[in-house]
Amino acid sequence: MIVVLGAGGQVGTALRSVLPDARFVARDGFDLSDTATIERRLARLAPSAVVNCAAYTAVDRAESEQEAAHRINAEAVAAMARYAAAAGIPLVTYSTDYVFAGDATVPYVESDATDPVNAYGRTKLAGERAAMLAHPGTLVIRTSWVISATHPNFVATMLGLAAKGAPWRVVSDQVGCPTVAADLAAATVAALDAGVTGILHRTNTGATTWFHLAQAAVELAGHDPGLIEPCTTADYPTPARRPVCSVLASERAGPLGLAPLPPWRQSLPAVVDGLSVR
Ligand SMILES: NC(=O)c1ccc[n+]([C@@H]2O[C@H](COP(=O)([O-])OP(=O)(O)OC[C@H]3O[C@@H](n4cnc5c(N)ncnc54)[C@H](OP(=O)(O)O)[C@@H]3O)[C@@H](O)[C@H]2O)c1
Repeated sequence: MIVVLGAGGQVGTALRSVLPDARFVARDGFDLSDTATIERRLARLAPSAVVNCAAYTAVDRAESEQEAAHRINAEAVAAMARYAAAAGIPLVTYSTDYVFAGDATVPYVESDATDPVNAYGRTKLAGERAAMLAHPGTLVIRTSWVISATHPNFVATMLGLAAKGAPWRVVSDQVGCPTVAADLAAATVAALDAGVTGILHRTNTGATTWFHLAQAAVELAGHDPGLIEPCTTADYPTPARRPVCSVLASERAGPLGLAPLPPWRQSLPAVVDGLSVR
């Protein structure tokens, strides 16, 4: 049986509809903080594969909690990989566009050099490396800008602000690829079924800015996108630096026979509709 860790998060929740027979374990059933016991606890579950959706995802807080982020994003993933290698089973785990510096003018592919600009990105990169070292049969799916209808996320925040009816500002100089959790879940199962290992980039098709994503979502929800004003990253300082351009592309998916994910604009309405009825 496939075991999904981090089942309470956006991607873990989305996997429920594409892995109906898997065992979903949330933080209360499998806390990753106790890294020393992860292998033993996984052995008790006797999985046929592990899909790890759990992560320390608080990008800004990671700047001041690097040790905690490293424990979950690197040490815990390494322990899972050791278990999966010893048991001879696949491990799927997720990583991020934030492993890249974000100063490229063309999309990043899997073989491009990494150079994270923040603590979260460094811990995720450490997790990638530790997993591949312990278990070359690991599949690391790098994704970006994950949104869903089920959890707080950027789109949910934008709809909340739109409902207030007052203008607000959104950064317009960071470019990336939105990824709808449901599409990522389907792509995960396709890659797992195909036996893909190594690093794989999977995002919805098409790049945009946070500003344009906000406008598109707000318009779909029937609010006035004119209320959103563009601003620069410098106007909106955050504890963690963000890559300016972290568009992901895949040099591997096509040759492996994996279909591209739908365009983000095609998948956004389901997210907005789902959030609007919450
Ligand atoms: N969200 C994005 O924009 C984005 C972008 C690029 C890559 N990714 C990667 O994609 C993967 C899935 O992200 P997501 O959006 O689904 O994240 P998410 O919604 O934040 O879910 C992460 C899950 O990890 C759980 N978790 C955190 N610490 C834990 C611990 N000590 N023990 C057990 N579980 C713990 C959280 O539990 P609680 O709910 O109890 O806190 C949460 O359910 C992650 O690897 C993330 O790094 C995400």
